[in-house]
Amino acid sequence: MQITIENLCKFFGKVKAVDNLNLDIADKEFVAFLGPSGCGKTTTLLMIAGIYKPTSGYIRFGDRVVNHLLPKERNIGMVFQSYALYPHMTVFDNIAYPLTLKKVNRKEKKQRVQRVADMMGIGELLDRKPGELSGGQQQRVAVARALVKEPAILLFDEPLSNLDAKLRLRMRGEIKRLQEDLSVTSIYVTHDQVEAMTMANRIAVMNHGILQTYGTPNQLYEYPDTLFVAGFIGSPPMNFLKIDLEQEGDGLYLVRRELKIRLPEEIAAQVKPSVVPSQVIMGIRPEDVHIVPANEGDFDAEIYVVEPLGREDLVSFRLGEEEFRALTPAPFKGGVGTIMGLNLTKEKIRLFDPDTGNSVLKSNK
Ligand SMILES: Nc1ncnc2c1ncn2[C@@H]1O[C@H](COP(=O)(O)OP(=O)(O)O)[C@@H](O)[C@H]1O
Ligand SMILES: [Mg+2]
Repeated sequence: MQITIENLCKFFGKVKAVDNLNLDIADKEFVAFLGPSGCGKTTTLLMIAGIYKPTSGYIRFGDRVVNHLLPKERNIGMVFQSYALYPHMTVFDNIAYPLTLKKVNRKEKKQRVQRVADMMGIGELLDRKPGELSGGQQQRVAVARALVKEPAILLFDEPLSNLDAKLRLRMRGEIKRLQEDLSVTSIYVTHDQVEAMTMANRIAVMNHGILQTYGTPNQLYEYPDTLFVAGFIGSPPMNFLKIDLEQEGDGLYLVRRELKIRLPEEIAAQVKPSVVPSQVIMGIRPEDVHIVPANEGDFDAEIYVVEPLGREDLVSFRLGEEEFRALTPAPFKGGVGTIMGLNLTKEKIRLFDPDTGNSVLKSNK
């Protein structure tokens, strides 16, 4: 089922929870809504589900405007962070509940509940009460209950947040696989960029109720449109450095006290002419910063701290007031206070306007 969101707004008094959202979700697509707490993810999801009424704007399923449809008329399955199971009912009755509401006959109900329960690996637990299940099993029951209706759309609201890290990893893979197998158009709300990156076909990044960007995980990682997206996606996060952008001869240079870097032709060609010269923010990811002996890199810097991550070490440098990080194969042999050279993979340099936060590179996708 294709979903189209047009100029969608939801205000609670003066709070603009969702501010003029426009979004297209293709049939069978898995889209993540990603952003910090309070950015309007749940509000958007609840409008799609029909639980909240939009202040203005339209939601379409296929060609049909659904604004006026009740939740039960929308053919949606929903999974929440709090599993929202009925504690006094068995697992069977919890999963069967949507079918009971629709007065599906006993035999068909039994078959359908058993099928989704088996699919979720809880087929043996149907006689138990939710209180007799682990958190992971309870969440599987909640997913099974959403699936049993065979909905046209699945909505997930931070479904894994209450699980421990190991289980979260496992359920992440299982939900992704399930979505692929069932080919149900799905929206997955999360504040966890790793979840969004690993699961979704496309990610809508929101902040303060406003859509920041919408693209594939790879687009968002490689060519973030804004500083917010650049800093939100990726861990450890992208390095940012205030720097002057200047023309010299036929080259574009990034210049500050300790360094002068000529932009490679492929990046220079993307820089919007109107921003030369000006101060910009250079962004580069820690994996694109390489530690070399002093005087042999693009610039030198002093080691501030070394953090072992197992496979790699994260080495932080101080550049004036700012921090600059490099990911380097472990074990890194270099002590705090040592001066090292840093070499940037210059094709990976990204540039942003310090006032608007927007990328100053054009046609970057
Ligand atoms: N029922 C409500 N009444 C008033 N304000 C609300 C209500 N629901 C959400 N909000 C506000 O709207 C904004 C977005 O909330 P929400 O959609 O829950 O964010 P998210 O799910 O991204 O954490 C927040 O500022 C929140 O306080
Ligand atoms: Mg929420």
